[in-house]
Order: sequence, then C-alpha cells, then structure tokens
Amino acid sequence: MKITNICCIGAGYVGGPTMAIIAQKCPHIKVTVVDLNAERIAAWNDENVENIPIYEPGLSELVGEARGRNLFFSTEVDKAIDEAQMIFISVNTPTKTYGLGKGMAADLKYIELCARQIASIAKNDKIVVEKSTLPVRTAEAIKSILENTGNGVHFQILSNPEFLAEGTAVQDLLQPDRVLIGGETSPEGEQAINSLVEVYANWVPKERILTTNVWSSELSKLTANAFLAQRVSSINAMSELCEKTGADVNEVARAIGMDSRIGPKFLKSSVGFGGSCFQKDILNLVYIAKSYGLHEVADYWVQVIIMNDHQKRRFAANIVQTLYNTVSGKKIAFLGWAFKKDTNDTRESAAIYVSDYLLNEQANIAVFDPQVKEKQVLADLDYLQSRPSDLNKKGINVMDDPYEVCKGAHAVAILTEWDEFREYDWQKIYDNMQKPAFVFDGRNILDTPKLTAIGFIVQSVGSTN
Ligand code: UDX
Ligand code: ADP
Repeated sequence: MKITNICCIGAGYVGGPTMAIIAQKCPHIKVTVVDLNAERIAAWNDENVENIPIYEPGLSELVGEARGRNLFFSTEVDKAIDEAQMIFISVNTPTKTYGLGKGMAADLKYIELCARQIASIAKNDKIVVEKSTLPVRTAEAIKSILENTGNGVHFQILSNPEFLAEGTAVQDLLQPDRVLIGGETSPEGEQAINSLVEVYANWVPKERILTTNVWSSELSKLTANAFLAQRVSSINAMSELCEKTGADVNEVARAIGMDSRIGPKFLKSSVGFGGSCFQKDILNLVYIAKSYGLHEVADYWVQVIIMNDHQKRRFAANIVQTLYNTVSGKKIAFLGWAFKKDTNDTRESAAIYVSDYLLNEQANIAVFDPQVKEKQVLADLDYLQSRPSDLNKKGINVMDDPYEVCKGAHAVAILTEWDEFREYDWQKIYDNMQKPAFVFDGRNILDTPKLTAIGFIVQSVGSTN
C-alpha cells in the first residue's frame, strides 16, 4: 500500500521529532501528530517556532519548514485516526507505580487506551506501528484488543522502535545506524512491512533498513538500551576504583576504547546516567526475565541500576564529606539539570537525586540550566515525594544567570555537560565564591589544571586530579 496519510499518537520526545523528519523527507505524505495534552499541542503550533515544547538542535527549523504544509499538530485524535492509513503509537510507557509489577514493569495503560481508541474509530484497514519502547509480545496484546473490539476491519501491527538519542535526535533520524521494522511473517505482514520500508526508503539507504519478526524487534530495543546503560555503569564502576588507585578513568577509557572490539563510544564516566529510557527499559527487562523464572538473567541486569544509583549517591555524599561533613545552610551551585546536554528533558536526571540527597543534608541549592525552567525543577523534586513541596521550594532556587547561581556558593557541582560551562569566566566565579572554593565536576568537562591554578579545589569523577 502506498502511504499518503500518517497519524502519530503522542507528541513527545519521540513522536514529535520522528514525524517532523518523515514530513520533511516525504512531502507526498500528510503527517498529523495528535496528543491529548492541549497545552503541548498548542506549543507545537506556537507561531514562534522557537517555542515548540522540545528543545533539540535543528528541530525548530525542521518544524518551521513542514508545519502547515504536510505536518500538522492537533488534539483531534479521532479524526486523525480515521483519516490515516498508518498509525504510529508513540505514547509514554512509564514504569508501573502500582499493583502487579510495581516499580519494574512497563505501564501499558496508555498503549491499551490508544489501541481501544483506534479499534473504535477505524472504519477501514490500517497499519498500526509501535514506536514506543515496549515489553516483548506487546504487539500481541494490541492485536488482540484491535481484533476483539474493532469494527471488523483488519489491522497489521508493526514494531518500529526508535533509537534516536535526545540532543542528537535530528541527526540520528536523518542518518540512522539502522531502522528496525518487525512484522508478521504472513503475506499481509510482509505487505505492511514493505509499506513502512517505502516510507523510510525516501531517505534511508535500503541496506540500513532491517526487517525481523515482531518479537525480535521489540526485544532488540530493550537489549540495545540495556547494553548502552551497562557500558556507562561499567565505566562508572571503574571510576570509583580509579579514585582509589590513582588511575585516571579518562585515560583508562581511551586505552580500552582503542580496542576495536570495545570501541570508544559510551565510555564517559559521569555522575550517573539518566533519561526516560535506560532505567525504565532495564527494569522492564528484569521484570520480563523474572516472569519467565530467569533469575540469574534478572540479577545480572539489575546490577546496572544498582551501580548507577550508587554513582549518583556517592557523588552527593562526596560533596558533603569534602565540605567538612556538613552542607547545612551552605550554598551549593548546580550547573545543569537536564539528563544530558542539548535537551530540555530532565526525566531521571542525576541532578534530581543529587539535589534530593543534599536537601536532606539541609543544603541551599541554586540551579542554572540553559534549557530547564524553575517549574520543571520543582516538579521533578516534588515527584520524588521526599519532602513537602514548600520545603523543596525553600531549599532550591532556579536562576537564569550562571554567575548569580555561583555567587556566594561554597561549591559548584557540574551535573550536565553543556558546552557553555567550559567557556565561563571561572576567575569571576572564583572571586565571588566562599573560600575554599570547591568544584565537583560530575561530567569531567572542565579544565582542571586551569581551575586549580585559579585557586579552586577540583574533584572530578574517576581521578585524583
Ligand atoms: C538512549 C539511547 O541512546 C537511544 O538509542 C534510545 O532511543 C533512548 O535512550 P538518550 O536517553 O536520549 O538515548 O541519551 P543517551 O545519549 O543514551 O544518554 C543516556 C544517559 O547516559 C545520559 O544521562 C548520559 O549523560 C549518560 N551517558 C551516556 C554517560 O554518562 N556516559 C556516556 O558515555 C554516555
Ligand atoms: P516519549 O519521550 O517516549 O516521546 P513523552 O512522555 O514525551 O514520551 O510523550 C508521550 C505523549 O503521549 C504525551 O504528550 C502524552 O500526553 C501522549 N499521550 C498519552 N496517551 C495518549 C492518548 N491515548 N492519546 C493521545 N496522546 C496520548
């Protein structure tokens, strides 16, 4: 089937950028992104394209070009479903916070609601594409809902996991390492797969478009994220050993990364990984393994999370210990709040956990992040439910000037690796801080010798400087 009308349910960090690229690369396809969240849709439609709800380098330009031509953002979910030949499901699948599988399994409630809505609206055959990361065999559940509650029309379910990383989403979408499409092995399944292959083939070389069965595709996504997170936890485990032995984790990473079997990427030691995917997907993997009685498999992967939690906690504890065992009433300046640079996404950001720890120690925290606003910082802390909201508000102060944030501080902590942090006038920051002036570089991005020459006491992850 030649696709000319696509709808995407969910205008988030995956749905928004993905659809913007499809619209740009396929001018013959009408792409409508729908969401229940009217505020989010209004932001996507904001006259000033710089105000779209997601910050990604290059994204606003793309949206500005395609919006109103063949890219539309709307809250009219039913209408978009009705008109589309192909429907991408790109809604959130958070970790369950209640009941069976609480704290581990993926909550499929939003997926199920989507499936029911598609079933009730569809009056002709449709291809439904899972874009959200899902547990293995979710396609089966979606199919069962569609077939049992629908209007007798036929659905083909495809799994097409998205591998884009935030901060580089546009580049990752334009030149993906691979596009993965899982579908049924029946002739109808193959037809559906081909329809989606043809969409991507508008800009992705065919040899990079991989087709598999549905289950392999679903599991590949979880596996890729688990492997990536495991690399970060592995280098972070070594960082602690480096600090004890006098080795330097950056040197170790360079040395092992030159082994072509290991490769240089994803070996940056840090305050701990964050983001909406790694922890959620590993917990999900662990839950699935346990549900099949594979306890050794589950224990193996859970260790990646244990290490990551340890890394965040020990970064915070080290600040307290270094500041003479107390931060009570002291000002700690946070540079960065997002879970990585070049995004405004803060989900599971290490900054949230480090600040929670320090607030428990009665620190006063001042935060600057180039893309994160106060409302989000407070929402992130309130979500933890560690203390009443008014105490979070009292303990944390978000400002839009990094120099003000650092003024009078006892210590500066780098939580996100934004490039601009390197370029700051560190002499000016030093002059306005309490002495001794400490810097805790949770991302190893600063020029330690330069800062030390100014007078700072610098502590970086994974080295004794
Ligand atoms: C990840 C996967 O990379 C992507 O393929 C998938 O689609 C979604 O999940 P994302 O979470 O956007 O993408 O960012 P990623 O670049 O993977 O970083 C995740 C976290 O790991 C960040 O907090 C980052 O700072 C941290 N990280 C990454 C490190 O600490 N060290 C590294 O070497 C790499
Ligand atoms: P991701 O990072 O995976 O893209 P987000 O949480 O950023 O996830 O986005 C998911 C979006 O899906 C949210 O904006 C949410 O409002 C939307 N959503 C969830 N369920 C539905 C639904 N049934 N219909 C329309 N939109 C939905």
